[in-house]
Amino acid sequence: MTTATSTAADQGEPEVVVLPDGEAASATAARRIAAALSTAVAARGVAHWATTGGSTPGPIYRALATSPLREAVAWDRVHVWWTDDRFAAPDGPLSNSRDCRALLLPNVSIPDAQVHAMPVGEALERGQPAAWAAARYAEALRAGAVPLNPAGFPILDVVLLGIGGDGHLLSVFPGSATWDDPAWAQAVPAPTHIEPHVERVTLHPRILEAARLPIAVAHGAGKAGIVGRIFGERRDPRELPALLVRRPGAVWILDEAAAVLLPPYLGRASMA
Ligand code: 6PG
Repeated sequence: MTTATSTAADQGEPEVVVLPDGEAASATAARRIAAALSTAVAARGVAHWATTGGSTPGPIYRALATSPLREAVAWDRVHVWWTDDRFAAPDGPLSNSRDCRALLLPNVSIPDAQVHAMPVGEALERGQPAAWAAARYAEALRAGAVPLNPAGFPILDVVLLGIGGDGHLLSVFPGSATWDDPAWAQAVPAPTHIEPHVERVTLHPRILEAARLPIAVAHGAGKAGIVGRIFGERRDPRELPALLVRRPGAVWILDEAAAVLLPPYLGRASMA
């Protein structure tokens, strides 16, 4: 397998890894997640991983749930959090936690008490709004004793991210009001410009500035345009939220199809 990796941190850029196809990108993302979880456990005895929704994580969960990665991580020391969720039934197709619960959790030994899905199902059962679920989630994060950065945001060890066609990540869309509210988790009105048109709960975007290792994954030709914009001229992340993780310390894992508009100095600098 041919892999191209940039060494662009000294230029204020993330590490960008370009793989031949989506399968290879997912396998690499899974290996990076497993390695970062193990590093966190070795350093602090516990690992805090926030995962995402959408279609990107499924193949990554499958790789993590299969040898050798299944045996490579002290899963009983891992806490799983979610970056965001849709305000919809947890067992339905819109849920961001469903794939993880189906594909990964049955195959690794993460204690139930360390699986922190957003309490969307509970809110729906109780007739409570998305803001209620968001407030409970912020409390859960505080109770999880995740270390804080100087700005007061939790330092998650690994954050897996998919990228929306509009440049959103988490459920932080272009022009999002989440920036102006310091709450760690917030309700987000249903977006009208992108599907699914349902209310969301999301972590605060600044949690990505605090994270030890944000891993953004994008593959397929459909992601080429947005990847090209993200790695084009820099602008305010409030307009293009994915720019939050165009930073040293973050890793972007792309396939060739998603990377076609990447500037030549990224992702093609060296072979690894
Ligand atoms: C959501 C997500 C969102 C997602 C991107 C990419 O609830 O929709 O958490 O941020 O990661 O939209 O989605 P895909 O992985 O399906 O491309």
